[in-house]
Parts: sequence; structure tokens; C-alpha cells
Amino acid sequence: MGDLLLRILGEHQGRFVSGEEIGRRMGTSRAAVWKQVRTLRRRGFGIEGARGAGYRLLGRPDVIEETDVLSSLSSRSFWKSFTIFPVTDSTNSRAAEAAEKGAPHGTILCADAQTGGRGRFDRRWESPPGVNLYLSLLLRPPIDPSQAPQLTLVTAVALAKAVEEVAKIPARLKWPNDLYLAGKKAAGILAEMATDADRLRHVVIGVGLNVNAQESDFPRDLRGSATSLRLAAGRVFPRAEVLARFLDRFAEGYREFLSGGLTPLLPEWNRRSLIAGKRIKVRCREGDVWGTAAGVDEAGMLLFRRDGAKGEERLHSGEIIEFTG
Ligand code: BTN
Repeated sequence: MGDLLLRILGEHQGRFVSGEEIGRRMGTSRAAVWKQVRTLRRRGFGIEGARGAGYRLLGRPDVIEETDVLSSLSSRSFWKSFTIFPVTDSTNSRAAEAAEKGAPHGTILCADAQTGGRGRFDRRWESPPGVNLYLSLLLRPPIDPSQAPQLTLVTAVALAKAVEEVAKIPARLKWPNDLYLAGKKAAGILAEMATDADRLRHVVIGVGLNVNAQESDFPRDLRGSATSLRLAAGRVFPRAEVLARFLDRFAEGYREFLSGGLTPLLPEWNRRSLIAGKRIKVRCREGDVWGTAAGVDEAGMLLFRRDGAKGEERLHSGEIIEFTG
């Protein structure tokens, strides 16, 4: 619906067209034209209406088109299947289903919006339409299940590189799965795996990256702590371009990881660390503990100096819930 209206507005290249002329060409009443304008606005089209002048098209929604993404990929051969859902509950759930049905390594599932976006620790991931990236990568890596969490770090480095390349602003990483821009969280990674006895069947890497979200797109309680590329860099980014750069950087990082483990990627991770040398409070199985973060090791574990303890320990999971300095 609205295709003819869009064509008419498009022909006028940003100039006003009267409601009467539009109605005549469409063979409908001005009230019906107004209804279609409202529908198009809801789909993300910028349409200005002015009394006496009519309507003009100011902007189109940022649609993620498969061809735009694939045509600009340098890692085209790495990716075997690419699906974009207008809306789904969770791309991670779709990817797990696809995996069970035999979808190949290198499958990308992406959504314009999610109704049940999931974060770590069963948290909700805000997934409004039209503004951000929500995607899951299905991988079948020839590694031990114990190494699978390292893929979160591989992904984080790829995400940081892509963001820096496109937005030209520094990205920081918070172990194990958060990307920060200007002190606020802009992206999160949720890696989920399936195993058969001690064999890794597949890994799903879910990535949520806030690209063009504005303050009003976040619920009030997140406004102080969440950000987007747009908020941090002060301009809007085509989502297809951000996605393509991430997929390229990921394919590179993944190949490096398979041949040399995390070691070649560690300097890239550690130099972007948000917490290295800082006092941090970690939520682990035995409760919340304070200490100092030293860095990340070649197994992807956090090197941590617990207050009052001798030496360094290695944390393989946990959440940094506070940091200072
Ligand atoms: C986190 O920071 O807790 C991880 C957030 C991961 C969100 C992404 S959005 C795409 C994929 N589908 C989901 O349901 N979750 C991940």
C-alpha cells in the first residue's frame, strides 16, 4: 500500500504536490490520501504536509536490502545463506531452529525488528524497527565446546573494527560481550551453542547493535546507559553498510581464530578494553566481588586481581556490574 503515492511524491523530488493532484492521480479522496500518508509515515517515510501546499517526501526508511549488503561484501564466499525478516521474535531462536534443520555454517539471519530480543542473563534486548541491527550468525566451527565462548571475543573485535571504520569513532570493549561508545553501551553479543556429548554441533552468535536509535527509542531506564552510533557520532548510518563491514571483519577474524586461536586477536581486544587496570565489581557464582581487571588471556578469560587475595585469577564467566576510574 502507498506505492503509487510514493511514486507521485518521488517524481516531485522533494517539492510539494497538492493533495488534490495526488487524489486525482490516485482516483481517491483527499481523506484517503491522508490515510496513506499516515501509513507511510508509520513505515518510516518522512512526509511533510503543509496546509495549502500539499505533501512532500523528505526521506525514505533505511531498509536493509539483501543486495545492498551482499554486493558490497569482500567476504562473499564465507557466507552461505542470508535471510532478512521484517520482524521475528529473536534471530537467535530462528538460527537455532535453522541449525537443527541442517542450515549450513555461514548462515546469516537478520531482522528489522524483534518482539522477543534476548540479552544475556535472560534480559530483554530492545529491538525497535527501522533503526538498529539484530542478527545471528550460525557457525559450525571445528573446535572444542570449551573454546566456543572465545567466539564472543572474536565477534567483539570484529564489531569494534566495523564501527570504527564506518563511524570513525573509538569503540571500547567490556569483557566479555559489550561494545561501548563514549562511555555507554551500544552493542551486545549473545553466543549460544548446542553440543552432542563433548562435540560442538553449532554456535549461534547473536549481535544487537544500536545504529540509528535516538534517545526516545530507548526505554527511560536505559537512557543514561545505552547509546547508538548515531548518538555517539552525530549522524545517521545506512544499516546495510554497517552490517556489510561487520560481516567482512567477522569473516577475517574467524579465519584468524581458526588458524591461531585468540592469540593474534588479543592485542586488538586488549587495546580497546574499557576496564583494563580499573577497579571492577564482578558478579560471579559465589556473589559480587571487587578487584582489579588486568586484561584478557589467550583463552578469553578475564585476568582479575581480587581485593585482599594474592596473585591473579582467571574468570571464564561472570558479569562486570560496576567499574571505576
Ligand atoms: C547482551 O548484551 O546481553 C546481548 C544482547 C544480544 C542481542 C542480540 S539481537 C540479535 C540476537 N537475537 C536475540 O534475541 N539476541 C541477540
